[in-house]
Amino acid sequence: MRILLCGGAGYIGAHAYVVLVERGHDVVVADNFSNSSPGVLVRLQQITGHPVPFQPLDLRDREAVVGFFARQQFDAVVHFAALKAVGESCERPLDYFHNNISGTLNLLHGMQAAGVKRLVFSSSATVYGDPASVPVREDARLQVTNPYGRTKLVMEQLIGDLCESDPGFHAANLRYFNPVGAHASGLIGEDPTGIPNNLMPYICQVAVGRREHLSVFGGDWPTPDGTGVRDYIHVTDLARAHADALDFLVRERRNLTVNLGTGQGISVLQLVNAFAGAAERAIPYQIVARRAGDVAEVYADPSLANDVLGWRAELDVDAMCRDAWRWQSQNPQGYPSA
Ligand code: NAD
Ligand code: UD1
Repeated sequence: MRILLCGGAGYIGAHAYVVLVERGHDVVVADNFSNSSPGVLVRLQQITGHPVPFQPLDLRDREAVVGFFARQQFDAVVHFAALKAVGESCERPLDYFHNNISGTLNLLHGMQAAGVKRLVFSSSATVYGDPASVPVREDARLQVTNPYGRTKLVMEQLIGDLCESDPGFHAANLRYFNPVGAHASGLIGEDPTGIPNNLMPYICQVAVGRREHLSVFGGDWPTPDGTGVRDYIHVTDLARAHADALDFLVRERRNLTVNLGTGQGISVLQLVNAFAGAAERAIPYQIVARRAGDVAEVYADPSLANDVLGWRAELDVDAMCRDAWRWQSQNPQGYPSA
């Protein structure tokens, strides 16, 4: 298939690019580099051995998006492009609504005008908010606790309405749990701008000497060791699910919403210890107050993805830490500026 990856220069998009090219697809990346760097394209060329077809595109510019679709033919779109920082979304909700929701509407307009009828959408476990029980199944109650989460829920709903209106249009909403790790080559990985919000990139920056110590947000959660429990999933496993979801849309011609996680809960201290083992160095940490808005325990029931896609996570927490460390130690400051 000829596939457009919107936001394909970002962390998860870049890993999906590699898998889709390996599976023989013809893949074009579109991005505005608002949270990524052109350096990733050089690395993707190194991994795949071919130049990366790239289109500069800002999804907020409807004319540009519709014009682009009018000039190119695609069989499917994978839509990663979004702003994703929870704290920032509370400070600047309108920017999040504009970028994520209006940007998605523009994309859907472009697709409709060009007759592109397959969409894989990056949703998030954030749509479950603070789940009543774990593991979380897809039919759990949906609730959002911040503007970022609201954009994900609204986008799932908008896409759902479009699917209802056009029986020929099919979409897969992939609800990612906590993506971590990096490509086994160490050439691509997570490269957050500024101070990392999320646990794994923070640990990586402590390990490489960019930050003094990790602050563990809360040691008094009702969990086995008192620290928060999450479902970390290797980004390569996650990337593979996008190729499987595209195959599903072609084969089954129906819509899909699935969790993508390992099904295993890992605590902050378990991840810190696994990382220390993989990197063969201590990760200094201090237990501090809980972070506002955090919850004790979230992990997936991923059985639906296995049933319908034949997908399951294969890489364990040691592989996640080993690969994250390979990327960080080979690229202590992230991607070189291109
Ligand atoms: P990322 O920020 O690394 O990648 C997103 C990419 O989209 C970036 O390259 C950015 O420049 C681009 N982009 C943003 N707005 C754009 C616009 N208006 N036009 C064109 N390009 C635009 O993020 P990621 O971690 O790769 O996440 C990918 C998707 O997965 C996002 O939709 C995110 O919300 C979702 N998600 C991520 C996580 C996570 O923890 N990383 C978890 C759940 C869901
Ligand atoms: C984050 C997002 C959430 C998204 C999810 C999956 C926030 C507030 N929420 O949540 O919307 O769906 O990723 O990508 O960003 N921790 C520390 N110290 C740190 C950082 C984190 O102790 O410096 C702890 C947290 O308290 C939590 C765990 O590590 O228990 C994981 O945190 P994080 O990586 O931010 O992911 P989520 O909290 O799941």
